[in-house]
Amino acid sequence: MTETNTHGTNSDVVDILTADHREMIELIGQIEHTPEAGQRRDIADTLIAEVMRHAVAEEMFVYPAVEDHVPNGAEEVEHDKKEHDEIVKLMKRIEGVDPSASEFLELIGQLQAQLSHHANDEETEQFPKLRSHIPHEKLVEMGEKVQNAKKAAPTRPHPSAPHSELFHKTVGPGVGMVDRLLDKLTGRHTE
Ligand SMILES: [Fe+2]
Ligand SMILES: [Fe+2]
Repeated sequence: MTETNTHGTNSDVVDILTADHREMIELIGQIEHTPEAGQRRDIADTLIAEVMRHAVAEEMFVYPAVEDHVPNGAEEVEHDKKEHDEIVKLMKRIEGVDPSASEFLELIGQLQAQLSHHANDEETEQFPKLRSHIPHEKLVEMGEKVQNAKKAAPTRPHPSAPHSELFHKTVGPGVGMVDRLLDKLTGRHTE
């Protein structure tokens, strides 16, 4: 379903992805202000799942549009995918660290820095270019595709998985299904 943004027009893909960025930064703030280790882990699991769904949806529908419609788009996408790769590797490390250890909060601090940098790049560079090169209705449609892709996307970090549209569209839903099954079995918080 199409949502409306604060200006009363239909939310486009940029509104949706920008709101995701805000939510990620907000979750990081919550982790940093939660004294109880178990709760910190739960919020970190939610954050990791959210970042995975967001990154996969971008790689499926947004980065290909940047490549096709934005001058030097291919270079910008290559840079963005490298940053996604670093973020995924960092989240994999966070998964393996005891949430009561000081290393946990150090890694969360690194993730905060990487996510803010990456979100800022997208919001100041790629997203405005998408809006100037692609008609609004098309961006609203892309937003719907992004919302649907997030429902099937993996929720756990898979550092060896390629950051490609083709991989996400073929193998990705299977990986996402296994992730969701494991999430359910282990009571992992992903929403
Ligand atoms: Fe991204
Ligand atoms: Fe993003």
